[in-house]
Amino acid sequence: MKRTILALTALTLLASAAQARTWDQIKAAGTIKIATEGAFKPFNYFEGKKLTGFEIDLADAIAKQLGLKVEWITQPFDNLLIGLGQDRYDFVIASHGISPERAKAVDFSDPHYCTGGAIVSKPGGPKSAADLVGKTVVVQVGTTYLDNVKKIKGIKDVKTFQKDTDAQAALMSGRADAWVSDKFLGLDAIKSVPGKLVQGDLLFQEKIAMAVKKGNTSLTKELNASLSKLENNGVYAKLSNQYFGQDIRCK
Ligand code: ARG
Repeated sequence: MKRTILALTALTLLASAAQARTWDQIKAAGTIKIATEGAFKPFNYFEGKKLTGFEIDLADAIAKQLGLKVEWITQPFDNLLIGLGQDRYDFVIASHGISPERAKAVDFSDPHYCTGGAIVSKPGGPKSAADLVGKTVVVQVGTTYLDNVKKIKGIKDVKTFQKDTDAQAALMSGRADAWVSDKFLGLDAIKSVPGKLVQGDLLFQEKIAMAVKKGNTSLTKELNASLSKLENNGVYAKLSNQYFGQDIRCK
């Protein structure tokens, strides 16, 4: 008898672990679990021990609007969509560009901002795709920057880093000629080291969205409805202006 109960409990646990929480289940629980990286300033980063940034504030505002508390989980960027597939959290907000490849594995919300991948180098360094020929370029692993840089012919070496901040550090210390990252993040980084870095061309554009477990349409719907409310009631504009001095929503 005991054994049957144990076996049943194990099965139930397995079954529930294999199933993403629907909107109704999240609502009943009262807390939503959101995952991010925490090393992509000013979108998601740590200020001392405090997780903060545009995406953190935006997701907090979405949760508040939905009447939910938030449990934040931070993971290396590379692990975020894998953990989503394993139901470790309800959704991911970490500046993921919507791509056909990723859309095979996860569902995306409506975009929460529009941006692109841009070159950053030292003054006098490469500024265009053509300038990258024969050069060493650094990018964060698992990103659309890597995918797009790979398409440029003639680059001498593409080095990948677990963290975007390490890619930046490699450029700063002269181990690379150029770094490709988000255009807004690049501007922010340049401002923090006056005179040391400059932004070059935008190599590609992308729409950034929250990622939800494939098939969890009830949650995606709620996130979209909530994002749209925040875009219409001034909350989005206020946050965007606070972090970027402009409104970065997709137009
Ligand atoms: N936008 C790029 C992509 O879609 C980079 C995202 C990196 N995000 C992060 N939290 N490090 O791949």
